[in-house]
Amino acid sequence: MNILAPSILSADFTILGQQIKETEAAGAQYLHFDVMDGIFVPSISFGLPVLKSIRKASKQVYDVHLMIEEPIRYIEHFVESGADIITFHVEAASDSREVIDKIRSLGKKVGLAIKPKTPVEAVVPYLEHIDMLLVMTVEPGFGGQKYMDECTDKIKEARKLISDAGLSVDVEIDGGVTVDNVNVPLEAGANVIVAGSAVFNGDISENVKNLLGKMQ
Ligand code: DX5
Ligand code: ZN
Repeated sequence: MNILAPSILSADFTILGQQIKETEAAGAQYLHFDVMDGIFVPSISFGLPVLKSIRKASKQVYDVHLMIEEPIRYIEHFVESGADIITFHVEAASDSREVIDKIRSLGKKVGLAIKPKTPVEAVVPYLEHIDMLLVMTVEPGFGGQKYMDECTDKIKEARKLISDAGLSVDVEIDGGVTVDNVNVPLEAGANVIVAGSAVFNGDISENVKNLLGKMQ
């Protein structure tokens, strides 16, 4: 079954809890939480106290996407604040295996992310140790960008590597998804879809239902 992960980066923070509940009621199984440090990516978003506070808003799977340098420094803190899955960037960690083992030792699911210009080969040594591979379909840092078509082949390549190895790793994609193009990453082999502006701009329930309708 395919999973929708609304990214709250595009939410209205004055009514954040309410909007999270609306995505859950409409059927979104995950909630995507984008953490930016102003160094690994140009922007700064939100962090630990916000996660801790909104953890109570829903029973969704909290899918934390760390766009931060040396994520090892914060794994414990994000687990304590309520993360269910922690995804970090292979480009940001000096020792990815150490980060994977740390997340695992705390009983959480592990995701590994690659930016559009990073080849899938970069994650091959880690595939058997992770639960999810995140293939970015925009340059990380901002919501509301356009889906990069050149990433579709990377999704296919990732899915093929995973199935050839007989692994059951989820393939998540993040960036530029709309109700009109969501079929493209799905057909390429993704099964977890992040969507920010396509969920939070306009009527949230309707957007979630329309996206899920295209994801069956
Ligand atoms: C980008 C973030 C995305 C972003 C997606 O750095 O990781 O999760 O919020 O936003 P949309 O769906 O608007 O492209
Ligand atoms: Zn993200």
